[in-house]
Amino acid sequence: MQLAAVVLAAGKGTRMKSSLPKVLHKICGRPILHYVLETVKAAGIEKIVVVVGHQGDLVAEALAGQAGVVYQHPQLGTAHALLQAGDVLAGFTGQILVVGGDTPLVTPATILQLLEVHRASRARATVLTASLPDPAGYGRVIREGRGKVIRIVEHKDAAPEELAIREINTGIYCFSGEGLFTALTEIKTENVQKEYYLTDLIEKYVKAGLPVAACEVRDAEEILGINDRCQMAEVEAILRRRILNELMFSGVTVVDPSSTFVDPEVVIGQDSIIYPFTIIEGKSAVGPNCRIGPGVRLVDAQVGEGVAIANSVVLESKIGDCCTIGPFAYIRPGCILEQNVKVGDFVEIKKATIGKGSKVPHLSYIGDATIGSDVNVGAGTITCNYDGMYKWHTRIGDGAFIGSNTNLVAPVEVGVGAVVAAGSTLTRDVPAGALGVARSRQRNIEGYSKRRKIVAKEDSKDG
Ligand code: UD1
Ligand code: CA
Repeated sequence: MQLAAVVLAAGKGTRMKSSLPKVLHKICGRPILHYVLETVKAAGIEKIVVVVGHQGDLVAEALAGQAGVVYQHPQLGTAHALLQAGDVLAGFTGQILVVGGDTPLVTPATILQLLEVHRASRARATVLTASLPDPAGYGRVIREGRGKVIRIVEHKDAAPEELAIREINTGIYCFSGEGLFTALTEIKTENVQKEYYLTDLIEKYVKAGLPVAACEVRDAEEILGINDRCQMAEVEAILRRRILNELMFSGVTVVDPSSTFVDPEVVIGQDSIIYPFTIIEGKSAVGPNCRIGPGVRLVDAQVGEGVAIANSVVLESKIGDCCTIGPFAYIRPGCILEQNVKVGDFVEIKKATIGKGSKVPHLSYIGDATIGSDVNVGAGTITCNYDGMYKWHTRIGDGAFIGSNTNLVAPVEVGVGAVVAAGSTLTRDVPAGALGVARSRQRNIEGYSKRRKIVAKEDSKDG
């Protein structure tokens, strides 16, 4: 059987009160729409059409060629939205899955179940339903007695006895392509919202004697739609928990799931422990046996094995095996830390490579630098990489020792095994093996303290 999907995403999302289209709001770091597309694809559907409208160009751009796009202008309701896919799907007689772009929790298994019920019951339309403790806002499924579905009534149009029904329309359907688009043109707007309701197609088919089926979702949580930001937070919490559960089942310890945030594409190795208040975003990967947190944010970070990071931020950088970072380190984009590197407290690193076993333990800024292996960078060392116009590079050779409070005015190079005296401001290279001293010589004035006391006494007499 041929399969296609139409994702409805043209609505304004009025209840979001936002200048951004609803489906582009992010949950767990990805646009809402992204999840729906991933699910549809995972269910084996390749032909996907997204109906866009309100700020349609923005939505189309976000799709980045992942699906076909049709425009709906103006947005006159869900039936009218589906109708816009009529040209693209003209003559298509397979099964057409229709799903709202605002229902990101639905799983591929549920979609496959819906398609199967549709196929097995030879229906022209099959609606996915759910029973909710609080059905407010959703369309209600009206059955004949306890039997077959005869129509769907929107919350706003429902009579009091209909509002008591807890079985709702999830907004996810499977239709047979045959006659679908012709039937859609016959839907009217005789309802409170004066919209073309896709839900009216059910009653229309039933009246025409065409077979209509229903399939109830096993886990009602899956079909929560996002209409406002409160629902968005609820959905995000569920999604977040799903991601964390999957990690925990794969052997990762999450000490406090309620304060841990991990994006869906993040990979974490076995026996790593994630401590509270940690956020791991984007395409980050963390190896096995790491200790991440508390209070860590990783964005697109590649972290090796056995790494410990506490109270720190790592952005778009690579952290080698057995490194220790923090507390209070800030690793900005473009850093490569090789194995066993220590970056300690109040250290900022940017676009720098730090070789095996090197240490930058305290209070330093290292930017635009290449540091070799087994280097010790003393407390308070600064790479002065910016002259107000251009950025310049600093190089430090293997085994060098940089004394505390050194300023490395780039471009500058400290050779292999060289030593820089504490408090130096280097403006010239230090050759390999040499000692670089770049500070004024100390002078001691003998008896100074005593003389100062005498002067102070004289002054107070005068006063
Ligand atoms: C819809 C269903 C309701 C169901 C609920 C499930 C109708 C009439 N009602 O209501 O029975 O319980 O979903 O979540 O279908 N859209 C367009 N163009 C439009 C209007 C909407 O593309 O002209 C898109 C929206 O962007 C959204 C989806 O269709 O992704 C659903 O629209 P929405 O306004 O959220 O419908 P609900 O009131 O939630
Ligand atoms: Ca909705």
